Amino acid sequence: MTVKSVTLTLVCSAIVLVLSQCTKDHLPEPAICYQTDIEPLIVSNCTQSGCHNSTDHAAGYDFTTYQGILEGVEPGHYKGSEMYKVLILPFGEKRMPQSPAEPFSDEQIALFARWIEEGAVQSLDCISACDTTFVGYAGTVSPILTTYCTGCHSGSQPEGDIDLSTWSKVKPYADNGTLAGSVRHASGYSAMPKNGNKLPECAIRQIEKWVADGAQNN
Ligand code: HEC
Repeated sequence: MTVKSVTLTLVCSAIVLVLSQCTKDHLPEPAICYQTDIEPLIVSNCTQSGCHNSTDHAAGYDFTTYQGILEGVEPGHYKGSEMYKVLILPFGEKRMPQSPAEPFSDEQIALFARWIEEGAVQSLDCISACDTTFVGYAGTVSPILTTYCTGCHSGSQPEGDIDLSTWSKVKPYADNGTLAGSVRHASGYSAMPKNGNKLPECAIRQIEKWVADGAQNN
């Protein structure tokens, strides 16, 4: 090999290395999971009594099923999707979810937009292994409640007068058994989420584990 070709080889490998580093930094995030990220968010925020459920059909929409949700969505085009547009309207009559429910957070709006961009597919069974070794409130329980429950259980008039938006408000229901009983659909408790599918088994086991460990603010 001549000095020139060695230099060339080195330069080329350097470029390849830089390029591969680049692609590494820009690896696509895993696709949004319909079953665990989208459906529960919509069901818990949009299907309350009087809203978009199979009985009330507000504005003609029933968002308790995938087919129903698709009615408000243009797969691949979040900006053209009715369900996205109503989330970002200025506060007022048409912004969804309607007052007194809390608006979607920026993260929830971004998640929803990404799901539509990714084709609004009905991805199921995308849950990986269930980790119940340590279950903390902040890292695990609070995100589950935010996705599945606080659409009804927060704001100025929470459903059933039960607010699940902070640890101190969740704690009494953890301690008296109703939190675990309701998500497990145990007899003697109202099955939660109301109108929705049962939580994934993993989320139920994580809540049970957190409760069994004293429902701490961890
Ligand atoms: C679509 C609205 C809605 C969603 C979503 C929802 N709830 Fe409820 N929840 C209610 C209503 C309404 C009541 C009061 C009437 C009843 O008990 O059915 C209630 C009652 C409860 C109770 C008291 C149950 C009892 O047996 O006394 C608990 C605990 C509860 N919810 C927890 C949750 C949890 C945890 C989630 C999320 C996994 C959730 N809810 C999701 C509407 C909802």
